[in-house]
Amino acid sequence: MIARRLPAAGLDLLAERFDVVSGELSPARDELLTRVEGAAAIVADPTVPVDGELLDAAGPALRVVANFAVGFDNVDFDATEARGVVVTNTPDVLTNATAELAVTLMLAAARRVGEAERLVRDRKWTGWDPSALLGRELAGSTVGIVGLGRIGLRVAELLRGFEPALLYTSPSPRPEAEVRLGLERVPLEELVERSDFVTLHAPSTPATHHLVDRALLERFKRGAVLVNAARGSLVDAKALATALRDGRLSAAGLDVFEQEPAVDPELLALENVVLLPHVGSATAAARDGMARLVAENVIAVLSGKPPLSPVQ
Ligand code: GLV
Repeated sequence: MIARRLPAAGLDLLAERFDVVSGELSPARDELLTRVEGAAAIVADPTVPVDGELLDAAGPALRVVANFAVGFDNVDFDATEARGVVVTNTPDVLTNATAELAVTLMLAAARRVGEAERLVRDRKWTGWDPSALLGRELAGSTVGIVGLGRIGLRVAELLRGFEPALLYTSPSPRPEAEVRLGLERVPLEELVERSDFVTLHAPSTPATHHLVDRALLERFKRGAVLVNAARGSLVDAKALATALRDGRLSAAGLDVFEQEPAVDPELLALENVVLLPHVGSATAAARDGMARLVAENVIAVLSGKPPLSPVQ
């Protein structure tokens, strides 16, 4: 049972072997609860809450929930574990796409790309101006990477050519990366105090909820740039809007929001924030890779083999 849609690269693999029922882009919960009845596998994604109710609606045939995403904060693990259901995600195949998007946001926010483009589109551009739209450069700056997992590490690799100093936080040290990329591991407070750019690459968990709140924002370097291509729950949007208004931050780039697709009106009203509609993994290559991995996980579990990328 595909809760929403799965690209052909994965759908075809499943349809060759199983009866597949696909849904709409925005399925009503009631419709989902009916469609899931008797399913052996559910293909979900971060917009689909996978909880006890959905699992019970599927019934005892259910063996696997394959999430079409690397994040899995939509899944209630107590509920899947209690029912002996395997959960899988799609790591690796989207790492580069998401890291490139984070770098895109870093540059777009620092160079005021959204604001500049709006000026041109609004026909308000009056000509080259030596002092207009001045931004910040990555070269010679300090970039703080919060979470050095696959995506955070790829961001560090991509940034090398821009020649910033690189700091990171991580629950455990990454000595190989420190040597190879010149990274320095520091506590979060020190990272925000020293960084000109802070980019978030941590999962959404109770421990990371509003990790960037008013108290932390007050410790940021004046004029810093914040990028979030991880999960909206990591940032207190109201506190961020205040920091963007009062100049504590010069700019921000956000691909994710706490109540997607809603975006806080205070952020929408600001020029110095680049807002994207959760497109971190939105390249054809990444989405095809994700779809294939989803299908391969389902096929493995339903043939009694170990899943390729289990998260539980
Ligand atoms: C997308 O948000 C993902 O977690 O892959």
